[in-house]
Amino acid sequence: MRVSIGSDHAGFEQKEMLIGYLESQGFGVIDRGPETDGRVDYPDFAALVAQDVTGHEADFGVLVCGTGIGMAIAANKVRGIRAANITRADFAALAREHNDANVLTLSGRFVSFEENCRIVDAFLSTPFGGGRHAGRVAKIMALEG
Ligand code: RB5
Repeated sequence: MRVSIGSDHAGFEQKEMLIGYLESQGFGVIDRGPETDGRVDYPDFAALVAQDVTGHEADFGVLVCGTGIGMAIAANKVRGIRAANITRADFAALAREHNDANVLTLSGRFVSFEENCRIVDAFLSTPFGGGRHAGRVAKIMALEG
């Protein structure tokens, strides 16, 4: 499974640590930057990761900023993306099972690396539930027009 990952300056440190963690778990990782912790604009990196997911370069995207909120708002502007900003592991599983989320956005400033690893584990290991959830997700996607 391949994961595309990106951050802004506020998420840079955890992005670098998460790359190591994901690789240690056997995932292929596409690092869309940034390459340093210098100040950048999070929508630029949300776009790169979102496009990897919609273009099938990656199975899932992971984005880290200060809160994860800006990354989610930006990624959800890309057609085909269902990004969820997650701060606890059980919600990560539900975002996959109920919402078929394809991008996970994380807080680099308010959530520990250890908790973010648990969130990533839950997100990447939980399949979409289908069934009654499938029609609801289809209705979400129909909102794109
Ligand atoms: C950057 O200061 C901060 O605004 C950004 O990382 C993110 O938290 C936005 O949602």
